[in-house]
Order: sequence, then structure tokens, then C-alpha cells
Amino acid sequence: MKLSDHRIIPVVVIDDAHSAKGLGEALVRGGIPIAEVTFRTSAAPDAIRVMSENPDIFVGAGTVLTVAQVDEAAAAGAKFIVSPGFSRAVVERSVELGLPVIPGAVTPSEIMAALDLGLTTCKFFPAGIYGGIPALKALGNPFPQVSFVPTGGVSASNLTDFLALPNVIAVGGSWMVPTAAIAAGDFEQVRALCATAAAAMAGIEGAV
Ligand code: 3PG
Repeated sequence: MKLSDHRIIPVVVIDDAHSAKGLGEALVRGGIPIAEVTFRTSAAPDAIRVMSENPDIFVGAGTVLTVAQVDEAAAAGAKFIVSPGFSRAVVERSVELGLPVIPGAVTPSEIMAALDLGLTTCKFFPAGIYGGIPALKALGNPFPQVSFVPTGGVSASNLTDFLALPNVIAVGGSWMVPTAAIAAGDFEQVRALCATAAAAMAGIEGAV
């Protein structure tokens, strides 16, 4: 299993690592066996550790802002690193550790900074605010070699529009992993939301 096998990435905010096992199982059952566990909560490293025990799920770290967090994520078993913005230090440390890294880049200058470091996949966040689909189409002209992972404003209702763009390799979002459902242990809700998203994706892939 590798990052590029996945076209929908659930962005997880988890308050208690005790929920991580059930959450991971729900993602697998829902057909989206990947998670970007964000360092927005102190439970993130433990949650990554617990979820990584499940061999059926590909677990990485999100909202990684510092080199120290890259190290923490790697120690917990994260298989990839995602940042909301571009940090040379975070990218270089991830590369040093052999971890795929997806920095946020929404302007041509940020995209060029990523290219300078040899990266060709960038997070596009917050996608809705930074121009959404028209912006991604426009960026495809000067940067045909760059693939984007839009997140922030992606939902069940527009994910297929984003995924249909040739320069969108995957989308991310929190809509299929509501924090309240995770906290309440309502993993059936998570499974169902994932299954709906997976079915929408299968629809467009079947149509290609
Ligand atoms: C992220 O970090 O990718 C976003 O918080 C996800 O955005 P969303 O909550 O709008 O899906």
C-alpha cells in the first residue's frame, strides 16, 4: 500500500487515542483505508501508533508544522507527512527520514519552492478559499508536472468534480470523519460516510 493508491484522504482530528482502533476499522470497512491524523490534538502521536497496528490502513500525520512534529510522527509510525503550508525545514526533515511529504502550496511561488526541493505533489488548502476548481485548472498551465491534493471545502457533494481534474491526484477532508462521531464512538456513521464517498469515487473511475 502506498500513498498514491489512495484518492480520498480522511483528515482526522482525534481527541482521545482510545478511539483510534475503532476509527481505523471503520475507515477500512468503509473502503477508505487511509488516515491523515492531524497534530491539532495532543492525542495525534498515540492515535497514529494505535492505528498503525492495523496492517490494513495507511496512516500518516497532518497539520505538521515543525521538524519536532515530523520526528514525533515518524516515531509513532506515520507513513507520510502533510503540512498546511510550505516549510522547507519540514520538507527536508521528512525527506531525510524517507517519508513522502505533501506541503501546502497555493501560489505559484510556493509551488516553485516545492519544485525546488524536488516535490511534485502539493496540498491545495484551503481549496475553497484559494479559488477551488478554476484555480487548479489555471495552475495546470504553468505547472503541468504538479499534482494537487485539494482539502478544505471538499465534501461529498463536490469531491468528484475535484477528482475529475487531471492535476488532482487525491482529495482530503474531514467530512467523513466528524469529530463528534469519533468522540461518541459512532464508528458506524464514519463507515457509512466513507462508503458513500468511496461509491462516488468508484462512479467516476468507472466512467473513465
Ligand atoms: C485540512 O487540514 O485538510 C482541513 O482541515 C480539511 O478541511 P475540511 O475540514 O474543510 O474538510
